Amino acid sequence: MEVLEAIKTRRSIRKYKPTPVDDKTVELVLEAARWAPSWANTQCWRFIVVRDSDGKNRLADAVIAVSDRPNRAADAIRNVPVVIVACAELGRSGYYAREPREAATDKGDWYMFDVALAMQNLVLAAHSLGLGTVYVGAFDAKRAASILQVPQGFCVVAMTPLGYPEAEPEVKLRARKELSEIGFYDKFGLK
Ligand SMILES: Cc1cc2nc3c(=O)[nH]c(=O)nc-3n(C[C@H](O)[C@H](O)[C@H](O)COP(=O)(O)O)c2cc1C
Repeated sequence: MEVLEAIKTRRSIRKYKPTPVDDKTVELVLEAARWAPSWANTQCWRFIVVRDSDGKNRLADAVIAVSDRPNRAADAIRNVPVVIVACAELGRSGYYAREPREAATDKGDWYMFDVALAMQNLVLAAHSLGLGTVYVGAFDAKRAASILQVPQGFCVVAMTPLGYPEAEPEVKLRARKELSEIGFYDKFGLK
């Protein structure tokens, strides 16, 4: 699948078939994540592949609702064959490598940015292999870290179910803002 086609046809998947996802396939999508760019190549990301039902159930229980509707990703996490949890080592991305290890910009720790790049590689690779994903950001990160025994100095950033979609997603399901609304020339707001 061409990159542009993958970008345009990927959609969040929240219902999955019980069909197992083999280790080789999981490795392929993690390999795509591994090749993402990162601050000074620091690669602060870590990935936990969760297959056991108890782990998935506990992660699903850590998911929170951000609107008056329940977070539909919780059931996906409970029922999907695999969940990939993205963690980050803190104080690496965006920091000077030499002492004193201060933030190099006024934007602090860039771990969210680097992990997002890796995750986007992962979800696009998954989509190109016929697998579905959905970013899950609304969860209690401390609770997730405790469930997964994530050590101090690291945090849990995001997770995604990984499995074969129950149905083909409707590509146009979620519209996007027009380019004219989000793209400017020379100065912010200039069209
Ligand atoms: C940072 C981030 C966090 C998200 N968290 C959740 C979530 O907790 N639950 C959920 O169902 N979807 C979540 N989503 C998925 C978005 O709702 C979805 O990407 C968006 O509505 C666009 O739809 P599409 O992915 O099908 O194009 C998240 C997406 C991002 C990028």
